[in-house]
Amino acid sequence: MSSTTPYSYILSLLILLTATDSLGLKITEVSIPHYIENGTKESVILDCRYDYGNDDKNLVVKWFLNDDPEPIYQWITELNLRQPSYRLQGRINMSYTVTPSANLTRYRALNILRPTTDLSGKYTCNVASLASEDSEERQMTIYAPPRSFNFNYTKTDRESSNFTCVVEGIFPEPQISLLLTNPNLKSAKSIPLHNKTIFSKGTYSVMSYRELLDKELPSGGPSELQCVLFIPGTDFRREKILSYYPEHLAGSALRFFPFWSTSLITAAVLLVSTVPNFIYIS
Ligand SMILES: *[C@@H]1O[C@H](CO)[C@@H](O)[C@H](O)[C@H]1NC(C)=O
Ligand SMILES: *[C@@H]1O[C@H](CO)[C@@H](O)[C@H](O)[C@H]1NC(C)=O
Ligand SMILES: *[C@@H]1O[C@H](CO)[C@@H](O)[C@H](O)[C@H]1NC(C)=O
Ligand SMILES: *[C@@H]1O[C@H](CO)[C@@H](O)[C@H](O)[C@H]1NC(C)=O
Ligand SMILES: *[C@@H]1O[C@H](CO)[C@@H](O)[C@H](O)[C@H]1NC(C)=O
Ligand SMILES: *[C@@H]1O[C@H](CO)[C@@H](O)[C@H](O)[C@H]1NC(C)=O
Repeated sequence: MSSTTPYSYILSLLILLTATDSLGLKITEVSIPHYIENGTKESVILDCRYDYGNDDKNLVVKWFLNDDPEPIYQWITELNLRQPSYRLQGRINMSYTVTPSANLTRYRALNILRPTTDLSGKYTCNVASLASEDSEERQMTIYAPPRSFNFNYTKTDRESSNFTCVVEGIFPEPQISLLLTNPNLKSAKSIPLHNKTIFSKGTYSVMSYRELLDKELPSGGPSELQCVLFIPGTDFRREKILSYYPEHLAGSALRFFPFWSTSLITAAVLLVSTVPNFIYIS
């Protein structure tokens, strides 16, 4: 048994009949939030305004999310049939209507309740009639700030260190960069990183690291390293700053890092002067 429903039969018929193009149907504006933080909004409205002509019979409005070929929502105006997909079951407000509204616009918008990261992505609004069709897409990023974000280093050798920046439980995949700032020159240089990314339970964890030799760092003072984290498509940005003292300057770090003193070897120099005794035999 196929799961063919009466309206999908009608839809296929519509698609067959939509061969001729006209200038009638036109999307004029898609308004959706560019980004929102997971779990912070009671609801959001994704609206798709369009102009239609008298020729536009049997209007159908569909919303798609990312590359899923199945619409997440469709409204067949003629039959007054509205169908959210399984992904939106119980997650949209079915009584929401646009204002002002008309028979062919009333239920065009999505009123998503308590949006979470799984509904982040590219939304496409598609409007079709027997006479014409139009589509527009927009990105809505629903992001989750990281559960933790740390930046530190371990000494790998006497004159080199491994700088590691770890971000856990973030969504979507972040961008991480390492900047070396030279306080004397007031400039910053971006240093390429190696990174390991894990996707688990709907969030990303990324470990980015880079081993640097002390001689690669500016000489003449402590270096300032910054790990910068940002989420593409949002204004979310965080940074951690570390002051690093190359080996030859480690002594000057004592006042900032007193715990280093335990690893210092204090050498005492004993000067023993011996007065030679000469025995003269006459
Ligand atoms: C997003 O928010 C929901 C509801 O508040 C919460 O259950 C979920 O853990 C959050 N997801 C992340 C990745 O923070
Ligand atoms: C659903 O939409 C209706 C009509 O706009 C509104 O009155 C109602 O508060 C909404 N319900 C929720 C849960 O947002
Ligand atoms: C809107 O639909 C209702 C019910 O289908 C119908 O009675 C009414 O005439 C329609 N209004 C317009 C302006 O087409
Ligand atoms: C950072 O690394 C230093 C040296 O390896 C260590 O002493 C310090 O405790 C670390 N700090 C954190 C916050 O992990
Ligand atoms: C640097 O530290 C990371 C995290 O601990 C580790 O996975 C990586 O292998 C280290 N790299 C070097 C060159 O020590
Ligand atoms: C990890 O490295 C790859 C290749 O350099 C880069 O394309 C990607 O954006 C990096 N990921 C992060 C989280 O910075």
